[in-house]
Formats: sequence, C-alpha cells, structure tokens
Amino acid sequence: TRERARMAGSNASEGNRKGLFVVLEGIDGAGTTTQGRMLAQWLERRGRTVELCWEPTDGQVGSLIRKALQKDGPDLDERVFALLFAADRIDHIEKQILPAIESGRDVISDRYVLSSLAYQSTQLDLDWVRSLNRFAFAPDIALLLDAPAQVCMDRLDSAGRGGERYEKTQLLERIRLNYRQIASKLVEEGQRLETLDASLSIEELHQRIVEMVQPLLREQ
Ligand code: TYD
Repeated sequence: TRERARMAGSNASEGNRKGLFVVLEGIDGAGTTTQGRMLAQWLERRGRTVELCWEPTDGQVGSLIRKALQKDGPDLDERVFALLFAADRIDHIEKQILPAIESGRDVISDRYVLSSLAYQSTQLDLDWVRSLNRFAFAPDIALLLDAPAQVCMDRLDSAGRGGERYEKTQLLERIRLNYRQIASKLVEEGQRLETLDASLSIEELHQRIVEMVQPLLREQ
C-alpha cells in the first residue's frame, strides 16, 4: 500500500485503505478550519472515527514553516517555501494520513497539495510545484471554499488575524484565481473536486459540504 501511495496519480481509495480522505482548500479566511471542525463533528455523529489534521503540520518541518510565515518572518525565496511545504506533506502523509486511513479512520485535512499549487505558483512554475508533489496521492474528495479575497481579508481582520506572508488582498485574489483555474484542470484530469461558495453563512456552507461528503459514505 505504501508503495502504491507513492505512485503519482494513485487514489486514496485504492489499496487496503478504509477511511475516507477529505481535503478542504481555500485562501486564508475562506473558512477551512471552521468547516473542517464542523465536518469532523458531523462524521463523528454518524459513528465514524475522524482525524482532523492540517498543513502546515505541527511537526518539525511544519513548525519551521509556521515561524517563517509570520509577519516579519525571514525573506526566504519562494522555492524554499515550495520545498518546505512538500517536505512537510511527506511527513504528514507518512505519520498521520496513511496510518489513519489504513486503520479505518477518516481523515479531514485542512489544506493539502492544491494549496501548494495555488499559492506557490504565483511566483513559481506550476509544473515544477506539481512535480515536487508527485508522491502525494489524491484525496477521495477536495472541497474548494471559494470567496472573494476582500471577504476573506475582512474575516481575518475581524478575527484579529492577518499580516502573514500571503495575507494581502491583491495577492489572495491572484491565489483565488489560481485555485479556480487549477481546480478545473484537475477535474478534467478526473480528480474529485468541488468548488463551493464560501461567502455563504457558516451553517449553509456546512450543509453544502455535507451534501458532497454524504454520498462518499454510501459508496464505501
Ligand atoms: P493556514 O492554513 O492559513 O494556517 P493558519 O490558519 O494556522 O494561519 O496556512 C498558513 C499559510 O500557508 C496560508 O497562507 C497558506 C500557506 N500555504 C502555502 O502557501 N502552501 C501550502 O502548501 C500550504 C499547506 C499552505
């Protein structure tokens, strides 16, 4: 199974994996963290065991990234970030994602490969970033929470957040466009990925997410 997982293009439903692998994506302030928690609770109420996780992780590489992203963080070249995010993802897959889904737990990841494709490709060649992430198998579904950058920045402001490396309205709007373009490319390639309107209320968006995830439970 591990070998298969390392193969590009292999899917999380292959091999002897039993848990569901759901990814939430979107620009900063789109609500992936809130929605991840709500989805985890929803799945748990249905008797599933859920592991809610995120990238950058709390592991050694992820912690290094978090420090570097802070306001007044070091001025690292974007290629360094691309490599660090990819390295953190390997650690995440090996230590958390695979063990969980192989033992039948569902995994919800707040960010995954699509984050690297959308964020790092504002400065870097998309194909290069993709190649760095070839080891990362596709989730059962990725949900792209899409909202205008201004809406997301206002949310960050009112939560007393903002100011990290990528948290600027114009830049986030470019990343949002990247997300949408890359998402449609991945859908054409056969990945299961849905774009949802993240300017909806928290509860409405949660309902949309549930509508996308529920059929996957029946398929299993
Ligand atoms: P974020 O999920 O916003 O963490 P937190 O909610 O704790 O602030 O992730 C941190 C930032 O890292 C966010 O701006 C998106 C960015 N990022 C990338 O640029 N590439 C990636 O591959 C990942 C996982 C995150």
